[in-house]
Amino acid sequence: MLDARSKEIALAEVQQHKILLDESEMPTQWYNIVPDLPSPPPPALHPGTLQPAGPEDFLPLFPMDLILQEVSQDRYVDIPEEVQDVYRLWRPSPLFRAHRLEKALGTPAKIYYKYEGVSPAGSHKPNTAVPQAYYNAKAGVRKLTTETGAGQWGTALSFACALFGLECEVWQVAASYDQKPYRRLMIEAFGATVHRSPSELTQAGRNVLAENPDHPGSLGIAISEAVEVAAQDPEIRYALGSVLNHVLMHQTIIGEEALLQFAKIGVTPDVIVGCTGGGSNFGGLTFPFLREKLAGKMSPTIRAVEPASCPSLTRGVYAYDFGDTAGMTPLMKMHTLGRNFVPDPIHAGGLRYHGMSPLLSHIYELGLIEALAVPQTECFAAAIQFARSEGILPAPEPTHALAACIREALACKESGEEKVILTALCGHGHFDLAAYDAYLSGRMTDEAVTDARFAAALADLPQVPA
Ligand SMILES: Cc1ncc(COP(=O)(O)O)c(C=O)c1O
Repeated sequence: MLDARSKEIALAEVQQHKILLDESEMPTQWYNIVPDLPSPPPPALHPGTLQPAGPEDFLPLFPMDLILQEVSQDRYVDIPEEVQDVYRLWRPSPLFRAHRLEKALGTPAKIYYKYEGVSPAGSHKPNTAVPQAYYNAKAGVRKLTTETGAGQWGTALSFACALFGLECEVWQVAASYDQKPYRRLMIEAFGATVHRSPSELTQAGRNVLAENPDHPGSLGIAISEAVEVAAQDPEIRYALGSVLNHVLMHQTIIGEEALLQFAKIGVTPDVIVGCTGGGSNFGGLTFPFLREKLAGKMSPTIRAVEPASCPSLTRGVYAYDFGDTAGMTPLMKMHTLGRNFVPDPIHAGGLRYHGMSPLLSHIYELGLIEALAVPQTECFAAAIQFARSEGILPAPEPTHALAACIREALACKESGEEKVILTALCGHGHFDLAAYDAYLSGRMTDEAVTDARFAAALADLPQVPA
């Protein structure tokens, strides 16, 4: 005789857990949301002239194919065959139904998660690293430089460069470099060189170290270092792991697949949650759903989740700012905490960015998405509950999405609503065990950021005529 708990487990086993697509069903185009928006996002500005930046202003940093994608007005862009071929190493990625998490929460909500941790790097980042390496190799570039926080992006780009015969040099934010030695080794295994940022190798790094030799680093500083090196050598270009339009567009393969997967089971989500660092996994999952919403075909609530210690959408301002700390990039109108804001060294290194994708910021301003900031201990509590029911140890970044998902599922428990919740599980946390150690041993804390700290970082926003 089975007891009640065993019966429950047996029942769960006959339910469908994964909604899968065949390799032949993988979408072959990326989606560009820009032409479908009620108004276009404001242009990037040249930092010297403060005039709208033209494609040529980006040439020292990016190959023309990517610049054209950055400013494209086409709704769809074909994914090159060579890129599709690499994508098929792990794509289409699975859509899971979290039956056991639902049971553990006692919620009538139906929870789904789109899992990007199946990629070689362990996250969504190869979805854009691969095309970026491909287009750079096609343009004859010798080396790519980049920043990395958690190390996921550095791993992804190093992997992609290895496939397309490019050299790769990575500046990793000091706090993450120290917390995650095995990430660095994985990046090196794929062939890239890794530097602890701020470094002595660049003027941007030296300036920061002169003021504070123990600086924990930030994504803004690491970007400055990688951009500085790329801008000085015509054979070197820079690759950004998030924020820009073309990066978010490459990630839309996630949402396009998820739409096909939901169509297979005749379900549409009521709520979609995803974490936002620079906005790429969130934009990638949600933009195809937003397209359907704008076309009146579905009406999900779409919610971005950010860390309470780096809340660019919920506590930042919408203004022109630099994408990096040293002020070398074009000016972008975005939600920003100020380029000098150095977030506390929380474990979600990939969410420690002072700004937000200008496209996503614009969409937030249009009222098409919501945003929520969550403290890290709540995120790790959610991650542990998720791991103990679904068996996947999430990267620290998507623990934010899981915390918001659990909040929503518990609200459904109160109201009795059977909402369908879709969560972006954009990476695994196998190299983030130091973060789990901090949480499980009770050493993890939530430091509230004072208003004075926000105000100080916002005091020196660049002056841009209206
Ligand atoms: C696993 C993971 N999730 C999320 C992020 C945040 O970036 P984005 O907002 O562009 O997805 C990162 C960035 O490094 C990451 O590594």
